[in-house]
Amino acid sequence: MWRRRTRREWDRLAHYFDHLTQAGLLPAWPPKEIIESVLAELKPNRILDCACGSGVLLTELKERGLDVFGADISPQMIDLAKKNAAARNIHIPYVTAEWQELPERIAERFDLVLCLGNALSHCESKRARQESIFSIAQMLNPGGVLLLDVRDWVKFRAERERYAVRGPRYIMGKRVIMVVVNTVPEEWERPVTTEYIVIEDGDEQLESELYTTTYFPYNVGDIVDAMQSVGLVNVNSVPFDSGAGFFLFGVKPGSDT
Ligand SMILES: C[S@@+](CC[C@H](N)C(=O)[O-])C[C@H]1O[C@@H](n2cnc3c(N)ncnc32)[C@H](O)[C@@H]1O
Repeated sequence: MWRRRTRREWDRLAHYFDHLTQAGLLPAWPPKEIIESVLAELKPNRILDCACGSGVLLTELKERGLDVFGADISPQMIDLAKKNAAARNIHIPYVTAEWQELPERIAERFDLVLCLGNALSHCESKRARQESIFSIAQMLNPGGVLLLDVRDWVKFRAERERYAVRGPRYIMGKRVIMVVVNTVPEEWERPVTTEYIVIEDGDEQLESELYTTTYFPYNVGDIVDAMQSVGLVNVNSVPFDSGAGFFLFGVKPGSDT
C-alpha cells in the first residue's frame, strides 16, 4: 500500500522535480559537503543510489569518473534520470526497483549505498523500515558504507510549521510561487502529509497544481537500532539544518572494519 502510494506521488511530481529544485523551491539535496567528506574518506569504487530520483547526484559523480548505479521506485523518476544522463552524453545503469527487490534485481554489490532525500520516511511502519534497511544493506560489499538521511520527527512535530510560502521564482519563463502545507495529526502513528501547491502566474490567469507526499514519523533511535539489527557496525550520525535531521552512517563488517 505505502509503496504504491509512494510510486504514485513521485511519478506525479517527477516532470516538475528538477525545475523546482533548480529554482530553489525544493531543497537541492544532499548538501555537497557531506558527499565530499564521504568520498574523500571512503574512496568508493562503486556507488549505488537506491532512491536516486532524477539522478542529479549520480550524474555529477559519474562525470567525476565514479562508477555509479541508480534505482528508484518511481518509473517516471527513472525515466527522467535516464533523460538527464542522455542529455549529458553519459551512461548510467538505472532500474525501477523498490528496496526489497534490490538484492535480486541487481547482481553487483557496492562500496557506498546512498538512500537520501527523506526517502525512508515513506515506509509505513517500523517493520517496513526494518525490512527496507535489511534489503538496502544487502547491497553493500564487506567494508562498504550505507549513508541515509533521517528527519527528526519529534522536532518537526514540536515546531509544527503549518505552512510556508516559497518564491516567487521563474520556471520556464513563468513566475511561480509554492505554498507548502504540512498536516501533522496528533497521533504519532498516523501519516504526516506535506502538500505542495505550485501556482504559476500566467499572463491572463493563475494556474495551480497540487502535489502530495506522505511520510510516516519515527524516532531517529529506531533507525539506528534497525541499522544495527541488520548487522551494520560503527553506526554514527551527523546533524543537518540545525538538527532538523541527521545523516546516518553504518558499515557492513568486512576484512578491515
Ligand atoms: C525526494 S526524492 C530524493 C531524490 C534524491 N535522492 C535527492 O535527494 O534529491 C525521494 C525518492 O525516494 C524514492 N523512494 C521512496 N520510497 C522508495 C522505495 N521504497 N524504493 C525505492 N525508491 C523509493 C522516491 O521515488 C523518490 O524519487
